Amino acid sequence: MPTNMILPHRPRRNRKHPAIRAMVREHHVGPEHLVYPLFIHAGDVDVPIGAMPGCSRLSPAGLMREVEAARAVGVHSFALFPAVAEALKTPDGREAHNPDGLIPRTFKALKDRWPDIVLVGDIALDPYNSDGHDGVVAPDGRILNDETIAVLCRQALCQARAGVDVVAPSDMMDGRVGAIRLALDQAGFHEVSILAYTAKYASAFYGPFREALDSAPKSGDKKTYQMDPGNSREALREASLDAAEGADMLMVKPAGPYLDVIRALREASHLPIAAYQVSGEYAMLKAASERGWLDEKRAALESLLGIRRAGADLILTYYARQAAQWLVGG
Ligand code: PBG
Repeated sequence: MPTNMILPHRPRRNRKHPAIRAMVREHHVGPEHLVYPLFIHAGDVDVPIGAMPGCSRLSPAGLMREVEAARAVGVHSFALFPAVAEALKTPDGREAHNPDGLIPRTFKALKDRWPDIVLVGDIALDPYNSDGHDGVVAPDGRILNDETIAVLCRQALCQARAGVDVVAPSDMMDGRVGAIRLALDQAGFHEVSILAYTAKYASAFYGPFREALDSAPKSGDKKTYQMDPGNSREALREASLDAAEGADMLMVKPAGPYLDVIRALREASHLPIAAYQVSGEYAMLKAASERGWLDEKRAALESLLGIRRAGADLILTYYARQAAQWLVGG
């Protein structure tokens, strides 16, 4: 090409200066998009989680400190996961709807102190079930769909009475969104939202989370209820069912390896789309950063921006407090 040729198309002009780049930037991630998942337990000390540096099973006091620190940098939404004592785990997971259980007690304490925070409650039986499955397990090993839904409805009502804002069924039973909506409405909890784990895949990336809660399935795997990683049309089917059953928001999980699914749901639905950057995605970023192989701040923020660009409105991420701190200039 002759050097004196006029080049009409020079996309680099829009990148020539930080202010111009900021002016034409299409997507951004801010603290308001982040939901902070936290692990809690009934013990007095915070217990670090091996494969999730920076995360612990928090004591009640540790939880208060962490929530306060997150609020200070603009994170106001929290999803809590309980590590339940082995002695409280039963085949029917009844601790899931104990009104004096760790989760309802904690929700009340948080709402008493900060009425304006958004509390997201996980609806599934795996932390409470002696089998480590999200549903009730039959003697022959099958996960019983409709029997599980009855328990999930009680769990949702228990959390609603404790002040939860959003219940998030992560169990992948068929029909649970509609059943939970009906149970909540019949009890007068019209204002409690449902964030459906719509496309939750049977993923290897949940490993560190199961260590954190000591909730790995004792036998078998979760492939008869969580989705096959090879499928994307099936995610659209789940999305239309969850929307028809009354979900307020739809979730894709994990996030990074499933950006195409986030985009597909974004285009197919008018509902807000959430994505869960799961424990394994966090662990990968942490491990590489600790070795000096990645610049943690840049890589973590880029991973979150990528999830937003794919079409997620909100992101559940263990980086929430740290990312918000970076974003507000800390
Ligand atoms: C189970 C549940 C899991 C996660 C959230 N809720 C694990 C599983 O399905 O086995 C995983 C989250 C993460 O890995 O960060 N109801």
